[in-house]
Amino acid sequence: MAEKLHIVPHTHQVSRADRNRQRQHRSLLIWFVGLSGSGKSTLASALEKELYTQGYGTYILDGDNVRSGLNKDLDFSDAARRENIRRIGEVAKLMVDAGLITLTAFISPFKEEREYVKQLVGAENFVEVFVDCPLEECEKRDVKGLYKKARAGEIAHFTGISSPFEEPQQPDVVVPTHQISLAEGVERIMTVLKDKLPLQKDEA
Ligand code: ADX
Repeated sequence: MAEKLHIVPHTHQVSRADRNRQRQHRSLLIWFVGLSGSGKSTLASALEKELYTQGYGTYILDGDNVRSGLNKDLDFSDAARRENIRRIGEVAKLMVDAGLITLTAFISPFKEEREYVKQLVGAENFVEVFVDCPLEECEKRDVKGLYKKARAGEIAHFTGISSPFEEPQQPDVVVPTHQISLAEGVERIMTVLKDKLPLQKDEA
């Protein structure tokens, strides 16, 4: 039985709505899902540049970066991947509360954890982008040389090879990075963002 911790959250004087008003835009979470090498980080980075250029406050949480700091105690077992996504969800929630358009680039292979994060930040604040690139293409690119190692049995539980990847069934945006350019991918997401949410600065 867990010990009772006597935690009472404090309500502070400045709210998310206040911060959104000050920045003149609403905050939200843009969650990129896809295999290793599918182009999540590249796409998130290009989208962030576009948003930043248009004057939006942004921040990217990225797989390899977070795994070398906050989550460096986690491996790639199913349980550790779940904990990885849970922690990232909590951090992203704080960032959305802080007023930022937060972009995350993690494989996030399990539907259940993605759904958990969506509920955690609120469905109205969550935009799921499926970076849809076939395994064969990711493997051909093999930017980090990890697929080769996984095939050789040097890396265990590798997503797509020896660990499952559950494709999103109803993502808000699909970006097939093997078929369209980076600029087209960014445009596709921007269109959905503007449609789905009041992103205009005067509509915060
Ligand atoms: S997740 O599954 O827990 O969401 P995350 O996005 O944080 O994964 O980390 C994926 C990155 O870690 C990959 O892009 C790759 O560089 C590296 N990596 C190392 N080992 C593995 C593995 N077994 N499976 C997938 N990616 C791995």
